[in-house]
Amino acid sequence: MSEDEGVVRPARTEELAGLPALELAADAQLVAYLGGASLPPLPESAQAVASLAEAAAVLVAGSPPVGFARIDVIDGNAHLEQLSVLPSATRRGIGTALVRGCCDWAARNGFKAVTLMTFAHVPFNAPFYARLGFQALDDAQLSVPLAAIRRHEVDLGLDALGPRVAMRRML
Ligand SMILES: CC(C)(COP(=O)(O)OP(=O)(O)OC[C@H]1O[C@@H](n2cnc3c(N)ncnc32)[C@H](O)[C@@H]1OP(=O)(O)O)[C@@H](O)C(=O)NCCC(=O)NCCS
Repeated sequence: MSEDEGVVRPARTEELAGLPALELAADAQLVAYLGGASLPPLPESAQAVASLAEAAAVLVAGSPPVGFARIDVIDGNAHLEQLSVLPSATRRGIGTALVRGCCDWAARNGFKAVTLMTFAHVPFNAPFYARLGFQALDDAQLSVPLAAIRRHEVDLGLDALGPRVAMRRML
């Protein structure tokens, strides 16, 4: 069992290397829920770690981490780009703590909103975020950068797996 798994804190640089594998393990839950369809492949590990190093913030829970959240800045808002919790550690409130940690980080850093993209009908995606105060945005409400991310998701094939939705929580 990871220590302090409910405590959300910034990732240490040396922890970034383990996070792509954590993401892959967590995504197995999505793959199982979506009926075994595969998700678009993750970038190669070294590339994925370099990409994490460019995030506005990477928050983790646990030591070693059992969950992480990656935050980017999109259109002047904090954008929760990735949220992953190891299957062995789910349903203990860690995902909730990470989302709350992201919102706290965003508020402390002067952002007015947190945005994200997720599967509309997966119970641990849009309904989970809705319980944490996120509201669905329709296409007309999407900023140009968010609309570009949605188009990229379509190009990657994500929408073929299930309807996707953009969500926002005002802070
Ligand atoms: C989404 C995710 C981070 C949630 O992590 P978590 O630590 O389980 O989150 P919490 O324990 O705070 O709450 C999870 C809630 O999601 C719902 N949920 C989770 N798994 C579920 C399932 N298999 N069936 C139905 N509801 C489920 C429940 O409402 C649950 O709360 P509950 O246990 O109190 O009923 C984790 O499931 C994960 O990594 N999933 C794979 C990757 C993913 O989908 N990321 C988000 C993409 S935007």
